[in-house]
Amino acid sequence: MRNTRVVVIGGSHLGRHLSESLTARGADVITASPRHGEHIDLADESSIKRFAEAAGEIDHVVSTAAMPANGPLDDLDAEGIRRAFDAKVVGPLLLAKHLRVTRSFTFFSGVAAWRPQRHRTVMATTNGAVKFLVEALAVELAPVRVNAVAPGIVDSGVWPADFLSTTADRNLTRNVGRPEDIAQAVLYAVTNPYVTGTVLHVDGGGRLAG
Ligand SMILES: NC(=O)c1ccc[n+]([C@@H]2O[C@H](COP(=O)([O-])OP(=O)(O)OC[C@H]3O[C@@H](n4cnc5c(N)ncnc54)[C@H](OP(=O)(O)O)[C@@H]3O)[C@@H](O)[C@H]2O)c1
Repeated sequence: MRNTRVVVIGGSHLGRHLSESLTARGADVITASPRHGEHIDLADESSIKRFAEAAGEIDHVVSTAAMPANGPLDDLDAEGIRRAFDAKVVGPLLLAKHLRVTRSFTFFSGVAAWRPQRHRTVMATTNGAVKFLVEALAVELAPVRVNAVAPGIVDSGVWPADFLSTTADRNLTRNVGRPEDIAQAVLYAVTNPYVTGTVLHVDGGGRLAG
């Protein structure tokens, strides 16, 4: 990854781990988000444009951004739903529009799309949309490659221990993910020159488990 400029959007949890992991492999990493590193807000096109102008040419972009809108439908409002789509769908489209990227984009989907649950309808829909987004953008932006990583539950420091152990019992692999498992998948998407329009499921088979 030496002499490679990578923008990682999102500086908390998986984004932070990913930035550290790419930096350790010699990449020149720019972290950007509303709260960490350079400022970017995927819900605000002007901030994306400003970021793009300052950043110049970039080899790879990885976006971990998420603004989930969970809960019963009665509790959801249009603004929250739109923010969830801004992070996972509209924002990535605007990144593709404004950033000068020469090699690849990697976006984050998630197992919620393949295992819908009550009160997680927006999360399932936005993560599912990422699958079609990367297929369409791969065609649109070729030869720049566009992929997604779809994590299952990852022990990123936020989930309670009992939830992690129940999830591990249910997963086909009998474990939950570690941030390094996700970083490894991102590295594959970023570096493999023959992979585009693909969703890499890194979920312990959770989407297939009974
Ligand atoms: N952790 C899991 O178990 C799991 C499971 C399935 C899928 N995923 C997916 O993996 C990705 C990373 O997960 P995570 O656990 O690291 O999530 P997280 O801690 O909630 O991080 C989400 C990131 O999104 C960034 N963000 C929020 N609003 C944004 C905006 N308007 N513009 C730009 N960035 C914005 C945040 O930036 P700041 O740095 O400023 O806070 C934060 O770094 C997410 O897409 C999530 O859906 C995670």
